[in-house]
Amino acid sequence: MNKGSKRSRQLSILVIHGPNLKLLGRRQPTIYGRASLAKINELIAQEARGLNVVVSCVQSDHEGELVHFIGDASKRYNGILVNPAAYTHTSVAVRDAISACGIPAVEVHLSNIYGREEFRSKSLTAPVCVGQVSGFGDHSYVLGLRGLVGKLRHRRK
Ligand code: DQA
Repeated sequence: MNKGSKRSRQLSILVIHGPNLKLLGRRQPTIYGRASLAKINELIAQEARGLNVVVSCVQSDHEGELVHFIGDASKRYNGILVNPAAYTHTSVAVRDAISACGIPAVEVHLSNIYGREEFRSKSLTAPVCVGQVSGFGDHSYVLGLRGLVGKLRHRRK
């Protein structure tokens, strides 16, 4: 087997971070932790190596851009790990993009959205994802990635 064919069989995951997550590390550390987004992306990349999958990480504060990322994802990726951040609670557009994208998505949150303000306990996006991880800080991404890869590998059998 040549290198190219092995690579093409490796799962590729797009990690999407929503609005304000580029401020991680400085943003309400008692709620979101002290890790910067760059550190979290490193943690995800490390876990991806262990799982033998490829990840790309993107961030946007803009709803339309998130919709584009999600809409285009199936061209290059097998699954999406997404923290829609505030759009979790407001965006029918992000929800519709996830519904339409044709590949599985897992939703993650650093904080436990069910233990905070009432408005955060409603996720418009979780029902169209294959699963959700909430409340484990940066480890939510690790757990979400494991869950997504497990789903994809199971589906492939
Ligand atoms: C968040 C939770 C959201 O309610 C909030 O708007 C965020 C971050 C989290 O990761 O805990 O920006 O998605």
